[in-house]
Amino acid sequence: MASVGVITRVLLGKNAINKVAAANTGFVKFYSTAPAYENIKVEVVGTKSNVGLIQLNRPKALNALCGPLFEELGQAVRDFDSDEKIAAIVITGNEKAFAAGADIKEMQNNTYSSNQKKGFLKSWEDVSNCGKPVIAAVNGFALGGGCELAMLCDIIYAGEKAKFGQPEINIGTIPGAGGTQRLPRYVGKSKAMEIVLTGNFIDAHEAEKMGLVSRVFPVEKLLEETIKLAERIGTHSPLIVKMAKQAVNQAYETTLKSGLQFEKSLFYGTFATEDRKEGMTAFVEKRPPSFKNE
Ligand code: CAA
Repeated sequence: MASVGVITRVLLGKNAINKVAAANTGFVKFYSTAPAYENIKVEVVGTKSNVGLIQLNRPKALNALCGPLFEELGQAVRDFDSDEKIAAIVITGNEKAFAAGADIKEMQNNTYSSNQKKGFLKSWEDVSNCGKPVIAAVNGFALGGGCELAMLCDIIYAGEKAKFGQPEINIGTIPGAGGTQRLPRYVGKSKAMEIVLTGNFIDAHEAEKMGLVSRVFPVEKLLEETIKLAERIGTHSPLIVKMAKQAVNQAYETTLKSGLQFEKSLFYGTFATEDRKEGMTAFVEKRPPSFKNE
C-alpha cells in the first residue's frame, strides 16, 4: 500500500512526480495525455494506477473556483470518466483550502442578465454527471461553492482541520450550486437553515456527525486514506459500481416507491451482466472474482 510520503510527494509537481514514478514503479503514473492545465493538477495514482487524482491549484486565492478552473475540472473529470483504466476519481485541494467558494472577484460585476446569458455556474454539472465514483478529500476551507463542489461528489472524506460552510449570506447572495438543495438532503432542514442563514462554519467532526462527511482523518493521512478508498472501490466490477452509484443517486431524485422500482430494475439488470455471474460463481467456488466490466 502507498505510504504517506509517496502520496505527499505526488502533489509537489511534475519533476517530483517523475522521480517518484521511477522509484515506485506501478504506483504513480504521470497523466501524460492530460492537457496542460493552469488551475488544476491531474495525476494517476494508486498501486494499480487506477485512481484519477485532481488537485485544485489556485493556492493564493484559496482555490477560489473561477470559470477557467471549473472548465478544466470538467474536462479532467470527463477524461477520467471515459478512461477505462480509471476506477474512481479523487478531487482535493491543499492543507489550507479545498476551495473557498466561487471566485468573488470574478463575479463581483456580474449582473442578473449576464448570469442568465452566460449560464453562470452551468459547467459545474460536469462533476455530478460523472458515471464513476468521485470522492472529495477536504482539508481546510470548503466554503460556498467549495462546500457545494464537495457535495457534488459521491463521498466526502475530511481532514480534522476542515471547515465547511455556506457563507454566501455574508456577501449578499445565496448558494447557487446546490447549497440550498443538497445540504438539507444530507443534514436535514434545521441544520441546513442554520448553516445557510448564519454563514457560520462547521468543523470536520460536526460535519461527520451531521452526515455531510463520512470519515475524518488526521490532515496528513487524508489523501492516503481517500486514495485507499478509491482503490477499494476499484477492486469491484466498474459496471456494477456504476449501477450502484446510479441507484443511490436516484434516492435523491424521486419518491421511495419509484426509487425502489428503479433499484429493482437495476438489480435485475445486474443479472444480465457477466460480472454478476462471475461474482456469484467465484463466491460459490471460494475464489476471488475476476471482473471484466461486462
Ligand atoms: N473568491 C475570490 N478570492 C478569494 C475567495 C473567493 N471565494 N476566498 C479567498 N479569496 C482570496 C482573498 O481575496 C485573498 O486574496 P488576496 O491575497 O489577493 O487579498 C486570498 O484568497 C486569501 O484570503 P484571505 O486573506 O481572506 O485569507 P484568510 O485566511 O484571512 O480567510 C476565508 C480565509 C475565511 C476563507 C476568507 O478568505 C473568506 O471568507 N473567503 C470567502 C468565502 C466565501 O464567501 N465563499 C463563498 C463565495 S460565493 C459562492 O461560492 C457562490 C456559490 O454558491 C457558487
